[in-house]
Amino acid sequence: MTTAATSVLPELDAEAFARWRAGGGRVVDLLSVVRELGPVAGFRLGDRRVVLVTGASAVQQVLAKRTEVYVKRGHRVKPLLGGGLLCAAGEPWRRQRKLLQPQFTGQGIKVYEPQIRAAVADTAERWRVAAAAGEVREVDADLRHFSLDVIWRSLTAHPLDPETHRRLVAAGEGFAAIPAFAPASGDTEIDFREANEHVDRVAEHAIALAEESREPGLVQVLLRAAAELPDYTERLVRDELMTLVVAGYETTATALSWLFLLLDAHPEQREWALAAGPAGSAERAAAIRALVDETLRLYPVAWLMPRHAAEDDVLDGHRIEAGTTVLLAPYLTHRDAELWPDPEEFRPQRFLEAERRPAPGTYFPFGLGPRACLGAQFSVREMVLLLEELLPAYRVQVRQAPAETAYRLTVHPDGPIRAVLHAAGE
Ligand code: HEM
Repeated sequence: MTTAATSVLPELDAEAFARWRAGGGRVVDLLSVVRELGPVAGFRLGDRRVVLVTGASAVQQVLAKRTEVYVKRGHRVKPLLGGGLLCAAGEPWRRQRKLLQPQFTGQGIKVYEPQIRAAVADTAERWRVAAAAGEVREVDADLRHFSLDVIWRSLTAHPLDPETHRRLVAAGEGFAAIPAFAPASGDTEIDFREANEHVDRVAEHAIALAEESREPGLVQVLLRAAAELPDYTERLVRDELMTLVVAGYETTATALSWLFLLLDAHPEQREWALAAGPAGSAERAAAIRALVDETLRLYPVAWLMPRHAAEDDVLDGHRIEAGTTVLLAPYLTHRDAELWPDPEEFRPQRFLEAERRPAPGTYFPFGLGPRACLGAQFSVREMVLLLEELLPAYRVQVRQAPAETAYRLTVHPDGPIRAVLHAAGE
């Protein structure tokens, strides 16, 4: 639709771009300056045109309404996850999504709830021992262990074993090297051979465990598909199951890390959530859910989503040429003062005020539209179940937190979070 009246796209000038380069060249700083130019604004990276979309209606257009124009292309994790859901496109993506979707609905995830609860109990036990010993914990490592345990149990019906844990942490270093978005189109130059070796071994192990298990698991869903459908090759089963691990593990763990950091800075919000209702009540669960929602507003872990404009289009009255890279940045939309009053404040209550329910396109930590996060409900459920157990039992006092935030594939605290766990009543 290029016939509509269009106005010139606001674009960062060369001088401002040079100032950004001289000031350290962090992607988040560049995008923040571009955002100042308007809800749809551009900049140039070499001969590549990039458009940043932060306004609510344009966000909906890109992610939900005109998905045939704005496509996912050459996902940054493709060298590791091949044809898995995150990277797939077109008809194969549709078939793969259709197969897994029923497992991840509100009803579907109930099958995995016992596995989540087992992982919660395990983490609670580790914390009980650590609190009794007065130990300083690396809570981010505990939270990563927890979310990995959850997804591993849901895949294989087995608890996470030390060898798998070791391999996945090692493979994670490959992912950590991936930039926020590739400076040139196409895949990055990183050597993924070692990470891929770990991924292969872990996938083989998951399949072996699932084959001998009598309990339901996500790997069995994939193996059944492999037995019935010709597209589900051995390689695709590997890619898909590892996509679930990778998409679901670091993201959830990082959200939980941010949440504990925010509660350390705002202890009254923990008190508020616990005072909302007794253990097990709907009121307390809703307040804890609001803590999660507000954490993901300030730190939408997948803070940047790139799309490729496959055709010319018009966005908020600006012409977008085919070939443009379009960036969605929930991190910036969620902190836009025109959309969110006092955007820098951590105020979970805003999610419980009916009149302030997020308007469409203003809140999308899990993306929007057909490519929105498959695991959104799963992830929120696992976070709420963990917090229902840990928040009343412990006050987490952070002793050492990273001074820097890393803005890479995910937005995360750039280093370990060391904390003391005080048992309730101390
Ligand atoms: C706090 C936790 C999580 C966050 C913030 C998050 C965020 C996202 C976002 C923003 C997308 C869309 C990316 C885009 O449109 O370019 C996405 C996709 C996806 N997520 Fe999540 N995610 C989380 C947890 C999970 C979990 C637990 C799982 C699985 C168990 C999961 C599986 C997936 C998959 C498979 C996709 C690709 C969906 C598709 O393209 O059809 N995620 N996630």
